[in-house]
Amino acid sequence: MTTPQKARTLVVALAERSYPVHIGAALLAGIGHLLPNTRSGRSIIVTNQVVAAHHLDRLQEGLERADIHHDVIVVPDGEVHKDWATLYDIHTRLLELKAERSTMLIALGGGVIGDLAGFAAATYQRGMPLVQIPTTLLAQVDSSVGGKTGVNHPLGKNMIGAFYQPSAVIIDSATLSTLPDREYASGLAEVVKYGAIRSPELFAWLESNVLPLLSRDQATLAQAIHESCRIKAEIVVADERETGERALLNFGHTFGHAIEVGTGYGTWLHGEAVAAGMVLAGELSVRLTGMPATENSRLRRLLSRFGLPVDPPALGANRYLELMSRDKKVEAGKLRVVLLEVLGRATIRADIPRSELLAVLGL
Ligand SMILES: NC(=O)c1ccc[n+]([C@@H]2O[C@H](COP(=O)([O-])OP(=O)(O)OC[C@H]3O[C@@H](n4cnc5c(N)ncnc54)[C@H](O)[C@@H]3O)[C@@H](O)[C@H]2O)c1
Ligand SMILES: [Zn+2]
Repeated sequence: MTTPQKARTLVVALAERSYPVHIGAALLAGIGHLLPNTRSGRSIIVTNQVVAAHHLDRLQEGLERADIHHDVIVVPDGEVHKDWATLYDIHTRLLELKAERSTMLIALGGGVIGDLAGFAAATYQRGMPLVQIPTTLLAQVDSSVGGKTGVNHPLGKNMIGAFYQPSAVIIDSATLSTLPDREYASGLAEVVKYGAIRSPELFAWLESNVLPLLSRDQATLAQAIHESCRIKAEIVVADERETGERALLNFGHTFGHAIEVGTGYGTWLHGEAVAAGMVLAGELSVRLTGMPATENSRLRRLLSRFGLPVDPPALGANRYLELMSRDKKVEAGKLRVVLLEVLGRATIRADIPRSELLAVLGL
């Protein structure tokens, strides 16, 4: 049992939509102190059976201690259930439970639960307060902060959704102790991404802390999560609706999505595909921005020390180009790719010559 740490708190400063992000180990037990005031004293938890088996008890005990009434909605586990049918089921349960507009919806789970429950909160009675309690590393450093919510459509991932900021994000790093290794490493890829696009200090710190991170040392983890959320919050505050700078967060993702789709969803985890995608984007950076090749070697080495794949699957250059041109990030027919100038500084380019892409993909 991890001893509770005092939470460190960041604020996502979005004027009247500002909210705190609390980070620490074993926070669920004392959650009453971290939740925003509920006018109704009532909450409804949305989770899945996998997360419920590991962490629901502790959350319920924390809520009971704080005298907050709670009901639980359990949905099936998996990305395939991030869909309209499950969203509708959540709405039905909310109506059956007579949830009110002031009832707090608590999303307990990974990015799938966060996106799904977040969109349910955004749409039930035109919006109810939402608290994100992310339980995967990916959700803790990425999806729970920033307000993107939604579901998949058979014709495209994340195509139906809304920007809807939570009232609070509570990150208990102790929940990661039950996360499978591959899921954990997949989240580390996003942490590396923040260093690569924005912070040479974070990147160097990660290089010096590979072992404590691999052993999930709580204090080191809390630090990595804090830095990641700090950077994500800074970028979201500058560009909430992704009209500019927020697109830097897609470093490695244009190639990564091609890998995810080209190998069949679920074969490569998102973070694994992003890891190999970042190395490809790094290669392209060396060719186009003059980033020293040694910088991309550092990126490659750090990712492989975390157990992440750094060599892309052999889909064939033409298949990559076709998949990348279907990416959501294509604007006015132009493929936009995030490149690095050096480790810690990124730029967006829409003028990538096909010959350069082919050279990188044909490696
Ligand atoms: N909203 C955003 O800004 C944003 C950003 C990135 C990704 N996403 C979305 O996030 C989703 C991926 O999220 P994910 O990687 O967290 O996947 P996930 O939610 O499917 O979680 C991965 C697996 O781990 C299980 N799990 C969760 N917490 C656990 C724990 N503590 N112990 C043991 N098992 C646990 C889950 O039940 C699931 O089986 C995708 O749908 C993606 O589109 C959203
Ligand atoms: Zn990602």
